[in-house]
Amino acid sequence: MSTAPVFAGPDAAVPRHVAIIMDGNGRWAKRRLLPRAAGHRAGVEAVRRVTRAARALGIEALTLYAFSSENWRRPAEEIGDLMGLLRLFIRSDLAEFQRENVRLRILGDYRRFPTDVVTLIDDALARTAANTGPSLAIALNYGAQAELTRAARRLAERLPPEQIDEAAIEGELETRELPPLDLLIRTSGEHRLSNFLLWQAAYAELLFVDTLWPDFGADELSAAVADFGQRQRRFGGL
Ligand code: FPP
Repeated sequence: MSTAPVFAGPDAAVPRHVAIIMDGNGRWAKRRLLPRAAGHRAGVEAVRRVTRAARALGIEALTLYAFSSENWRRPAEEIGDLMGLLRLFIRSDLAEFQRENVRLRILGDYRRFPTDVVTLIDDALARTAANTGPSLAIALNYGAQAELTRAARRLAERLPPEQIDEAAIEGELETRELPPLDLLIRTSGEHRLSNFLLWQAAYAELLFVDTLWPDFGADELSAAVADFGQRQRRFGGL
């Protein structure tokens, strides 16, 4: 049976939109003397655990950084492994998204991916387009600077400079249909944003945890949400 989420109100301690930089797959594998691909496979299991846990917590939107525009610099074999995992993930988890009323969204220029992956993604987007439950946004070939550059170009073509304001820019961002970003988590002890959601992170709470992504799960997400609930958000006020 579908567990209909009860979305949090504006003052609730549960963040409406959580984004995660899933880092540490390679180190997780290395510690176990396994190939990096094994780390990415374990990373997909973590994606499943965390998307389920996010639904159970009533988080409205979960955005996951799965492939950055800089990840093309990795060896072709590793890129191929990541594409293979994406194929498997969409094929095997689409039925669950449908059952659970999850709307899949993609941030980034995924059209540079192999044709069959693009077709799979387009099909999954179309099939979940009418779903009204939580959003799962996967960032694929995403870079925030490119997103902002594209937004600036589009606005410059359409509007005189004095009409280009924050709201106009937000309306051009790929996250325009998602709630404001409340919490941005990065795993594996690195303290960088790595070109992820730079505009959207302006007032987000940031949380850096040492856990490697394949070890992240429901307990770690609950702890992150509890940490968020303790923070005083002032949005520039007192
Ligand atoms: C960072 O770990 C992780 C990535 C670059 C890719 C994230 C991908 C997945 C979790 C699997 C695919 C996702 C989906 C949605 C199917 P790293 O390799 O940079 O780790 P390291 O810094 O320890 O080397």
